[in-house]
Amino acid sequence: MARRATALAHPNIAFVKYWGNRDERLRLPANPSFSMNLGGLRTITTVTFQEEEGPDLLFVNGVPVEGPARERVSAFLDHVRGMAGFRGRAVVESITDIPPGVGLASSAATFAALAAAASAALDLRLSERDLSTLARLGSGSACRSVPPGFVEWVAGERHEDSYAYSVAPPEHWDLWDVIAVVSEQHKAVGSSEGHRRAATSPLHGPRVATAPERVARCREAVLRRDFEALAEIVETDAIWMHAVMMTSRPPLFYWEPATLIVLQAACRWREEGLPVAFTLDAGPNVHLLCPAEAVEEVARRAQRVPGVLRVLRSGPGGGARILPPE
Ligand code: PMV
Repeated sequence: MARRATALAHPNIAFVKYWGNRDERLRLPANPSFSMNLGGLRTITTVTFQEEEGPDLLFVNGVPVEGPARERVSAFLDHVRGMAGFRGRAVVESITDIPPGVGLASSAATFAALAAAASAALDLRLSERDLSTLARLGSGSACRSVPPGFVEWVAGERHEDSYAYSVAPPEHWDLWDVIAVVSEQHKAVGSSEGHRRAATSPLHGPRVATAPERVARCREAVLRRDFEALAEIVETDAIWMHAVMMTSRPPLFYWEPATLIVLQAACRWREEGLPVAFTLDAGPNVHLLCPAEAVEEVARRAQRVPGVLRVLRSGPGGGARILPPE
């Protein structure tokens, strides 16, 4: 039997953020979160397991990858091998159009696709919930790239009950993310280290305590397709996460000068009547959410802001899925 499978996954943009773990090893989050999959960006990963044991091989866009990135993939594959009782090494070939390390949630798509492909290659036949739980062990936010569309991650108490589920399919709301890229440099401090620092901020406790209420309001706003309500929650939550980052010890500053220029411009545009709301991940690039009818205008304006290198755009996307063999 060929122990081989290919899976596709999209990254996701969080409307209510995950920042800080209650359990670092299991990536059990300090708070629940909510996101939308980004159908315009994707990672496609093929995993081939071999009989012999030995170091796993990783290729991203055809280039061999060594060091911590490969070790993280291997550590994740050990979970999958453990579940299947299999010891052979894996060859992982990943094709992606997501620039890594710039706050575009590349690890979410990476580990959602890897979880789906590796578990299918070893014929594990996981439910969507169990696949989400598994993907979480690779990167917390990856659990939200497993179900389709608009997704909530239930924080849970233990490994088995910390998973994401779909609140609404991608067709529910034609909401777009216009990503204003202001830097393509790999970020100096990755999110794993950032999560570790979160609890050193005096703002972490109140952020975590109020997150469940924001998730509930976000879920309602998405179900009602209420852009105004969503905009308020999304912006408050993003600023709060960055305030935690900036008040951690040592502090974390992900913003570039151009980040603030885009944020201020977005506030002005909304005052002028353009439906747009900003959010950011652990990076300097600004995600401008808007309904489909405003995409062209938001993208046009974003492109003209000084410091914006380029603009990416994406509507809602489906969940992680297995692709037929070539
Ligand atoms: O999944 P991680 O460990 O890369 O953390 C992602 C954290 C944020 O992107 C900043 C927020 C989120 O909820 O996606």
